[in-house]
Amino acid sequence: MHEIEYRNLLYFNTSCSPPVLVDEINDAGWNLRLAHDVQSAQNILLKYTPSVAIAQFDDTSGRLSVPIENFFRNVDQVEWVALIPKNAMSNHHIKQIISESFYDFHTLPPDTEKLLATLGHAEGMALMKRDNPASRQLPLPLQPSEDEMVGASPQMLDLFKNIRKVASVDAPVLITGESGTGKELAALALHERSARHNKPFVAVNCGSLPNGLIQSELFGHEKGAFTGASQRKIGRIETASGGTIFLDEIGDLPLELQVNLLRFLQEKTIERLGSTEKIHVDVRVLAATHVDLEAAIKDGRFREDLYYRLHVLKIKIPALRDRKGDIEVLAKYFFNKFFNEKRRNVKGFAPSALQLMNHYDWPGNVRELISRVRRAMVMCERRLITPEDLDLDRRNGERQVTTLESARNSAEMEAIRNALHKNNNNLALTSRMLGVSRATLYRLMEKYSLMPKP
Ligand SMILES: Nc1ncnc2c1ncn2[C@@H]1O[C@H](COP(=O)(O)OP(=O)(O)OP(=O)(O)O)[C@@H](O)[C@H]1O
Ligand SMILES: [Mg+2]
Repeated sequence: MHEIEYRNLLYFNTSCSPPVLVDEINDAGWNLRLAHDVQSAQNILLKYTPSVAIAQFDDTSGRLSVPIENFFRNVDQVEWVALIPKNAMSNHHIKQIISESFYDFHTLPPDTEKLLATLGHAEGMALMKRDNPASRQLPLPLQPSEDEMVGASPQMLDLFKNIRKVASVDAPVLITGESGTGKELAALALHERSARHNKPFVAVNCGSLPNGLIQSELFGHEKGAFTGASQRKIGRIETASGGTIFLDEIGDLPLELQVNLLRFLQEKTIERLGSTEKIHVDVRVLAATHVDLEAAIKDGRFREDLYYRLHVLKIKIPALRDRKGDIEVLAKYFFNKFFNEKRRNVKGFAPSALQLMNHYDWPGNVRELISRVRRAMVMCERRLITPEDLDLDRRNGERQVTTLESARNSAEMEAIRNALHKNNNNLALTSRMLGVSRATLYRLMEKYSLMPKP
């Protein structure tokens, strides 16, 4: 790993004035990456892992906004250098933030030589901390993924911090959270920030495979191991060799396979079906569940010993309704992401639409938010997305008594969503499971915005 090659620098301009010394900083060998809000600053940190960041402040006598303040307090993988107007030192609030979270500061306009020297020192300090295993910084290099994890709420900043921490340890991690909160995305983010990031990330949904197949899928089989096994098959655990295996819906793993998995976690060896040869495999196990495993243990559906093995480290992703600060950030993020897909004369969200989204309960979490935004962008006939385009049940947000019809609709939507999930979005299997024709299923999926991504 050549950390020195990474000279990315985050320039977080919280002020209304233009950034300063941009050319001079670039000429000094820094790759300057500008951000004007917390979300884009967060994305730059995740994607480019700079070791140094500049924050420019306005001539302000007031407080910083809460998200910005939380951001400075929670981001600990960079050394911050502040650029402040001369009179800012009389602002008690800014002084406190700088003294708590910053490496150094310069007054505006800064002296070029002095600022460049500070950036160099800040980088040296960052690298020194990075080399110190106790600081558990983000290991470099990071391979940025197309699907970045977005969030600006204190809960998500905390989560990002935890992901970085557990990424540097090699123990199993149990990721919990309601459906659609981003468990798979978190698993991937974790893998990408771990020392195994150059090796495979293999995801297996334990709930979507028929019982008879899951053993050979996970552990592989030898030729002739069972009727129909005409060839040797390498299992998913072996395929992930050197990397990470992500066992999604671990609560659905049949009991007899839980024993095999436990053995693998203890001995780091597997046996292919039809063979007694023990094969050593070096794989890190991440597991996720949206069911309460402790309740499953009480019901005798999940082995307690396996549970304790799996949840050495734990990551809990909060429901979207419990991190209100993220709703708007995510809605705008996905709006921008889908913007280029179709004819676009929609320019954004009407304030009333944002307000409705902030009050809504989001039972389907981020996944539901994505499909609502996508739908609204298609349906919208004006310049701004209205509450009607979002087609959210307004009563849901206010927790009032629902009509029978809306209760029926929610139950129907939930059943379809679960069945699609169980069957990996296979429509033939899903319609059979639900006992409706494919045409009906298709119509209902449209009705509830459950269409898979094109
Ligand atoms: N913080 C986030 N930033 C950006 N995209 C997100 C975020 N959280 C979730 N998503 C997106 O939301 C969708 C659902 O996420 P994911 O599949 O990881 O959820 P999950 O918790 O595994 O759900 P389930 O329990 O239903 O399997 C995905 O398209 C994912 O990319
Ligand atoms: Mg999932």
